[in-house]
Amino acid sequence: MRRCVVVLVGLSLVSALLTAPARATRPGKTWALLVASANDWWNYGMQADVYHAFQAFREGGIPEEQIIVMAYDDIAQADRNPFKGQVFQSYDLYDVYKGVSIDYKGDTVNKKTFKAILEGDKAAVKASTGRNGKVIDSGPEDNVFVFISNHGSPGHVCWLDGDDMSAKELNQTIQYLHKNNRYNNLVLYIDTCFAGSMFKDILPENIGVYAVTATNSTYYAWSIDCMSAAFGEDATCLGGLFSISWVYQLLSDDRKHSTMNMQYHEAKFASEGKCIPQQYGDLSIGKKTQVSFFGDSAQNKKPKQTRRLPRSAEARSSVAKHLLAYQTLKNQLASMPADSEKAELVNAKLRATETLMKHADKFITDLAMEVYGRSATQETISWMETNFGPINWSCYEPVVAAVRARCPDMMYTEEVRYYAGAKFGVLVNLCNEVNTDTLLAATNTAANGNPLCLQEEL
Ligand SMILES: *[C@@H]1O[C@H](CO)[C@@H](O)[C@H](O)[C@H]1NC(C)=O
Ligand SMILES: *[C@@H]1O[C@H](CO)[C@@H](O)[C@H](O)[C@H]1NC(C)=O
Ligand SMILES: *[C@@H]1O[C@H](CO)[C@@H](O)[C@H](O)[C@H]1NC(C)=O
Repeated sequence: MRRCVVVLVGLSLVSALLTAPARATRPGKTWALLVASANDWWNYGMQADVYHAFQAFREGGIPEEQIIVMAYDDIAQADRNPFKGQVFQSYDLYDVYKGVSIDYKGDTVNKKTFKAILEGDKAAVKASTGRNGKVIDSGPEDNVFVFISNHGSPGHVCWLDGDDMSAKELNQTIQYLHKNNRYNNLVLYIDTCFAGSMFKDILPENIGVYAVTATNSTYYAWSIDCMSAAFGEDATCLGGLFSISWVYQLLSDDRKHSTMNMQYHEAKFASEGKCIPQQYGDLSIGKKTQVSFFGDSAQNKKPKQTRRLPRSAEARSSVAKHLLAYQTLKNQLASMPADSEKAELVNAKLRATETLMKHADKFITDLAMEVYGRSATQETISWMETNFGPINWSCYEPVVAAVRARCPDMMYTEEVRYYAGAKFGVLVNLCNEVNTDTLLAATNTAANGNPLCLQEEL
């Protein structure tokens, strides 16, 4: 009798196991975290990228509760905005600011807040912003999409307060999300210089994470639509080359039938001749349809056709992102009468920016000379900026920290910091040449006498 009961219990257990669904059946939600982590007029395009991405998600029927936007929000109402209250991502002058809901503005746009939002940590959001705010409250059935448009340097995405996010830190956050079952698939799109270096040799291929970057690990990203006649003397780049491509494509694609790979190949095609977008991580996600991440285009109230102008017009107005401050001033100067008062002012700013850039050049040259001696020519040093192998973090991390601490005017002055950061490929190379202590000592020597650096050793 007893054996019979045991058998019966056993049988019902087996049948319960057989009929139980392998996974919870709740359909997954789609979440988006859209981040423009730079401010100032010459970084206009990065906020435009994010506002337009927001519109594309709304057109896919993703509820506002599941879209989180971080943007400084100093563009739409800027004094110099000739279209007050509006923001455009390209020459089409289609307002992408209308109806956008920005959850984190001003100084709350920082690395700490970003991490807290992505990890769904409400307490950490409150600690970092002083208030309650929306977080990505995702579970194992949900797909999460993260988009960042900004500046970058090798192994880093920049933030407006200068507290940059390293590839190591981003990798840790991704690992946390994976371990805590906070996504089914996680997709990251990053439009920054050296964006590939956030994932190359780092992002695992077997944790359901897929990344697309504007450029590879060793090269710049581009901003475009920089010479709008409608903006006249206040010309600025209206969007990122990669971001404009994927957002406009998304707005005209049938998301049920177009795959993530198709979007990537379109972006690659559009970027031809500048930088080449890359894919990293779990590439099988590229075969999935866009509807899994961006919502369904059939929800579109007014499906839009792409309004991009012919590509020849774009090509003539592209700027590598690390030169945005400098080149935007030049573009503005070119659109004003040469002898006007305004031109004189802009010219003075331009010259001041050039001086800052020269000091940054000198710092990097002096540092390389300290290590290589006189054999290092300007040419080889420039070559190293965009030619480097894997990052040795145990050297690169403390050296970057030392450069920041020793040369704050280089690393925290808007007009020069992205330009200087774009030279850090030299540091990656030097880390493969000598040990950390030698390089730290060289950093101090190069800083001595440089106007952008503190004059006491740390
Ligand atoms: C990135 O995270 C993975 C685990 O997801 C880990 O194995 C790897 O060492 C990490 N890489 C770096 C550079 O932190
Ligand atoms: C990165 O892209 C640039 C420009 O397309 C190219 O010259 C360079 O070789 C690429 N670097 C790597 C590591 O593939
Ligand atoms: C990375 O740098 C550290 C510190 O200089 C050094 O000890 C280590 O050997 C380097 N690792 C590689 C793989 O080069």
